[in-house]
Amino acid sequence: MDRFEPNLRIPGPTGLPPSVREAGARQMINHRGPEFAAMLGRVLAGMQPFFGTTGDIAIVTTAGTGGLEAAVVNTLSPRDRVLGVSIGAFGDRFAKIARAYGADVTKLDVEWGQAADPAVLRAELERDNGYRAVLLTHNETSTGVMNPIPELAAVIREVAPDALILVDSVSGLGAVPFEMDAWGVDVVVTGSQKAWMSAPGLAMIAASPRAWTAMETATMPRVYLDLRAHRESHAAGQTPWTPALAVLYQVDEGIRLMQADGAAAVFARHAACAAAARAGLTALDFRLFADQRFASKTVTAAYVPDDLDWKAFNGEVKRRGLVLAGGQGKLTGKIFRLGHLGSVTVEEILGAMSVLEFVSIEAGRPVTPGAAVAAAQVAALESFGVVTPATAGAGAS
Ligand SMILES: Cc1ncc(COP(=O)(O)O)c(C=O)c1O
Repeated sequence: MDRFEPNLRIPGPTGLPPSVREAGARQMINHRGPEFAAMLGRVLAGMQPFFGTTGDIAIVTTAGTGGLEAAVVNTLSPRDRVLGVSIGAFGDRFAKIARAYGADVTKLDVEWGQAADPAVLRAELERDNGYRAVLLTHNETSTGVMNPIPELAAVIREVAPDALILVDSVSGLGAVPFEMDAWGVDVVVTGSQKAWMSAPGLAMIAASPRAWTAMETATMPRVYLDLRAHRESHAAGQTPWTPALAVLYQVDEGIRLMQADGAAAVFARHAACAAAARAGLTALDFRLFADQRFASKTVTAAYVPDDLDWKAFNGEVKRRGLVLAGGQGKLTGKIFRLGHLGSVTVEEILGAMSVLEFVSIEAGRPVTPGAAVAAAQVAALESFGVVTPATAGAGAS
């Protein structure tokens, strides 16, 4: 294992491109000086298109969870009524944060593996129109499901126009299109260790004009996470507290790489890797966990087969250099997850499939050598719009 780098296929932190790693090793600079101001400005401007906003973004030195906490404490007051739409472990966490700060949280729990249904959300908002905010998870990393945020946000805007829409897109933003302004979303949170190809340590939080206004009257306690302090400081080219400078160097470089590829190419690469992962795992006779209509573009979850000794299997997979993630919460031991976000390439997914094939065949599972790699390759090609012999054949018949 120490002769080569593992294929780190967990849904964040992700492997880092060489230039991002080098950026993180750079010498410190004065975080109250002009060089820092220029970098911060670049990062903020570079992020805006990925959020789909022309509004202000705050960069906070914290894990993604701190970003979710910031979304809550800046916009809400104790006893505010909040609807926590949860499709998995991270939806539960978002609701738990709001509850911990005294919000009156109603949960709308969706079966894990499913996406939230706009019709069900509509019915709930029609039944009870008194919510101050609705919490949504864009990409539920624990289940590999991506919620239809535009449709869900449209329902909220129509039925409960005054409700704030707070979105956890920690593991989605930057990997798939997001149009915060156009969709009427109020707060969006993402994290440096996901699509941004950087180490953990920074949360990026965008807020709508309505959310910035809400911050003036919201009374949940906040000091370190006060987004107004961040906005004010960012306007002066600084952060209110000492930032995770090395991570910011990395995010600056990560965005530069994303811009060099172009957002459309970044999104297409994520879609192709996701398609390859789904096809490959299916060919390996693993049953996918998520409702495939809402399959995540950044993480794929599959059931651990009942007759598979997962510990032994995964140990061998790890020995061969492939690192997968297990299940979380009530899915611990029931599913495994394969991450495909950030600097991921189709080749890395094909490599993962070849390891899984090898170990599957060794373990006596009914897998044909090459079948999973081939299925993944075809799916990736098709996702990129390349005609394969399979699609050409399908057209001719
Ligand atoms: C959807 C989602 N929300 C929140 C988080 C929490 O982020 P962190 O672990 O950085 O606190 C994660 C991390 O995996 C996530 O995937």
